Amino acid sequence: MKNAELNSFATDRELADAVAMAWLDEIGGTVPHCVALSGGRIARTLFSSVAAQPRARQGLLNLAHFFWGDERCVPPDDVESNFRVARELLFAPLDIPEGNIHRIRGGESAEFAVAEAEGELCRIAPLNVDGQPVLDLIFLGLGEDGHVASLFPGEPEAVMSSRAVYRAVTATKPPSRRITLGYATIAAAKQVWVLASGLGKEAALRESLSPVGRTPLAQVLCSRQNTKIFTDVRLT
Ligand code: 6PG
Repeated sequence: MKNAELNSFATDRELADAVAMAWLDEIGGTVPHCVALSGGRIARTLFSSVAAQPRARQGLLNLAHFFWGDERCVPPDDVESNFRVARELLFAPLDIPEGNIHRIRGGESAEFAVAEAEGELCRIAPLNVDGQPVLDLIFLGLGEDGHVASLFPGEPEAVMSSRAVYRAVTATKPPSRRITLGYATIAAAKQVWVLASGLGKEAALRESLSPVGRTPLAQVLCSRQNTKIFTDVRLT
C-alpha cells in the first residue's frame, strides 16, 4: 500500500470523534498550529465533534491558525462556502479569534483571492527551502472520483506539476469555480489527514491505495512519506 496509514471506523461519527481527539492531541506541539480545513459532509461532522470536546471548549484551538485546502468562489455567507460551514460549526461555538481565521476570499476575483490566500499563508506558516509554506496539518476529504481539496482527475500534467500554493480551477463538483491548494503545498505539509467517508467512495479509495492508482489522492500519497487516512468505507 502506498505511504498511507489506514484507520478504519464503523461510522462517520466514530471516525469524526477519533479524528477530533487526535487533532487536539497534535495542537500545542508547535505554536501557532497552522491547519488547512476541508469542505464536504465529513468536515461538518468533524467540526461538530471537535466543538463538543472539552479541551476545545477550554480554548486549545486558540493556538491554531486556520486556512483552507480549498474554497468555492462564492461569498463568505453563501451556503456553499467552506468558510461559512467552519464559522457556524467550529469558530462560533469555540469563539475562535478572528485574527486566527484566514479565509480564502471566494467572493472576490479568483486572481485576487489566490494571491491574497497565498500571501497570508506564507506570512504565517514557515517556508521550506523551496519557498513552500509548511502547514502543520491539512485535512482532505475524498470525493467519489478520487479528488481531494479541489484537485480533480483529468488535469494536464503541466497544471498538476505547478508549484503554485493556491490556484483557481473549474471543477466537476458544483459549484464549479473553486480555489485549491496545489499538489506541491500538500506535499510540503508536515501532516496530511484524509477523511474518506460515505457511500460511493470504495472504488476511489481502493484505486488511490493501488501502486498504479492515478487519482488525485494517489498523486498526494506518492508525493509524501506518510499520510493518514481515516475511513468508514468497507474495503472488502
Ligand atoms: C469541497 C471539499 C471536497 C470534499 C470532498 C468530499 O470543498 O467540496 O473540500 O474536496 O472534501 O468532495 O466531500 P464529502 O465528505 O461530502 O463526500
